[in-house]
Amino acid sequence: MNNAEAKARIATLTETINHHNTLYYIHNTPQISDYEFDTLLKELEALEQQYPEYQLPNSPTQRVGTDRDADFEQVTHQYPMLSLANTYSEEELLDFDKRIKKLMAENDLNIPYSYVCELKFDGVSISLRYENGILQKAITRGDGVQGDDVTANVKTIRTIPLSIATNNDLPEKFEVRGEIFMPNSVFEQLNEERVVAGEEPYANPRNTASGSLKQKKSSEVAKRKLDCYLYYLLGENLPYNTHSEAIKTLESWQFQISQTYQVCPDIQAVMEYIKIWEEKRHTLPLETDGVVIKINELALQEVLGFTSKSPRWAIAYKYKAQSVETTLQGITYQVGRTGAITPVAELKPVLLAGTTVKRASLHNADEIERLGIRLQDSVWVEKGGEIIPKITAVNLAKRQPDSQPLQYATHCPECNTPLIRKAGEAQHYCPNERGCPPQIKGKIAHFVHKKAMNINSLGEETIKALFEQGLVRTPADLYDLKEESLNFFYKDSQKKKNDDRLKVKNLLQGIENSKKQPFEKVLFAIGIRFVGETVAKKLAEHFQTIEKLQQATLEELQQAEEIGSKIAESLIDFFKEPTNQSEIQRLQQAGLSMVAQKDETNKESSLLEGKTFVISGTFEQLSRDELKTKIEANGGKVLSSVSAKLHYLIAGSEAGPSKLEKAKKNNITILDEKGFFELLG
Ligand code: IVH
Repeated sequence: MNNAEAKARIATLTETINHHNTLYYIHNTPQISDYEFDTLLKELEALEQQYPEYQLPNSPTQRVGTDRDADFEQVTHQYPMLSLANTYSEEELLDFDKRIKKLMAENDLNIPYSYVCELKFDGVSISLRYENGILQKAITRGDGVQGDDVTANVKTIRTIPLSIATNNDLPEKFEVRGEIFMPNSVFEQLNEERVVAGEEPYANPRNTASGSLKQKKSSEVAKRKLDCYLYYLLGENLPYNTHSEAIKTLESWQFQISQTYQVCPDIQAVMEYIKIWEEKRHTLPLETDGVVIKINELALQEVLGFTSKSPRWAIAYKYKAQSVETTLQGITYQVGRTGAITPVAELKPVLLAGTTVKRASLHNADEIERLGIRLQDSVWVEKGGEIIPKITAVNLAKRQPDSQPLQYATHCPECNTPLIRKAGEAQHYCPNERGCPPQIKGKIAHFVHKKAMNINSLGEETIKALFEQGLVRTPADLYDLKEESLNFFYKDSQKKKNDDRLKVKNLLQGIENSKKQPFEKVLFAIGIRFVGETVAKKLAEHFQTIEKLQQATLEELQQAEEIGSKIAESLIDFFKEPTNQSEIQRLQQAGLSMVAQKDETNKESSLLEGKTFVISGTFEQLSRDELKTKIEANGGKVLSSVSAKLHYLIAGSEAGPSKLEKAKKNNITILDEKGFFELLG
């Protein structure tokens, strides 16, 4: 590589790695595996060492990836929050041990030392500040120097003590660090619920934990059932000499620690630990992606110190994502309630990371093309951070000589309607919305879901039976069901008959009770594309009645909070369809609520009635959420974007420049926090 090539490669790597850092930390949607990321980073590190003159000021080798988010208050860490050097090889681990010995010799240190091995929990790191035994602040790693203040959200995590009984050995001030994670069981249940509600399942527990922690409402965070393990205690004059004592101290103060840690007398014992946990870690309730090896003696830790990025006294050994080879036996196609087609790889069953894998998602036709996969191919299946395995590559050497390129399905596997694919969309669709059985049943299942109309007496089996009897084709048909039409439920024997009678009674009662569900739930239940639970709520709040929502123009729809062009267009498309209009009419006639109930409980005044506001930036006295609540409590409405019709823009520090500019252009009154309070008198 000549100088020019090295310079160019360094620039490309810097940009690529920074891009993947943003995807991982900010958007929670990584596109490459940890291993691929670490390989890129190592290449950059090596090049920068050889050509230091080409290192760029924004080089990711000099700083930790950042998760800072302008929506949260920024707090400076008392002690920088660093990352860990990592390796995937045993050889490098032995080098690490040699380096320690060398550094000790250089410092004339001749003390015995040991290691502590801990699992590397795959979550989000957090720093907790305590003063006089009370939790003061919880801060994310951010860029290592400053992080987001997520105290309110962290307080919802039950295993994190809000206060610790003070006793003699509790320092006045200290900081505890650890990992917030989403247990696998919680993640799986959340995804099951999302699938039933017709929402995209989340990719993996780590990203879901990270996304959950950055929710704007702590009540939403509480629902996510996050958990936390602590592994690091910081403070001044702390009364112990080793890391393992610190862990025990944390435990005695009621912090949750993982019992999986172990003191190892030498690097060989570390290797043993790594081997044992490679398989055993899959029995734990959370995802782990490696082992963290730390020098146990704090005096030695102090001598070794830190680089700009990580401590010299610790290293992470990461397990490679496990992968196995198996045969692709077939491809099946699943039809979702919206008609979206998902191809699924049917694999020869194989054991991988503790479970037998029989199927893997192939996402869409593009993914199949990217892999170049054919039937009977030998494929590599991998389980990385994801619980759902994925196919990473085809072993071409083993391809059958007579194999043929794969033809993607042209017709719906359920109703044989030709599939369509809209421009710019990756997914194929079955357009037979009202005639395709899984779409019909899926829409009913969505309609009765507990987050929608909450008809729990109507399970999957009953939906199937009602569909097969030809009694229910759309949700409105449910409200026409009579006891007489449900005779088919009754079986022969007397005992069973009683059970069946009860079932029919419960079913009808459940349907009747659902009429009390509020408008926002009805709106969610109808199943308009892109109208999830939150969007339905925002729409109900903003438009108040179904008539107003139906009549709204594209621009008016986008005035509502969180409604962008994609959702607005989907609403317009939905309401212009005559079959949808008549379905809504039937639901309305059945007695479902199509008007939002006004929440008068928090009402303070009507001073801001009819006035619209956009909030931008951060404020001194109130958080953005509090400001919003205040506006609404006084009758005003908060919108997300500035338009000519807007009444006020409330601008705090670091308000969005484009919002400010647009407001000035349209002569909209711009208020600061003080101005807003004056408005309220
Ligand atoms: S110790 C000064 N111990 O891994 C470094 N980190 O890649 C202190 N992590 O930011 C970190 N499990 O979020 C440590 N047992 C463990 C860990 C752990 C997971 C995370 C942590 C850190 C990242 C570094």
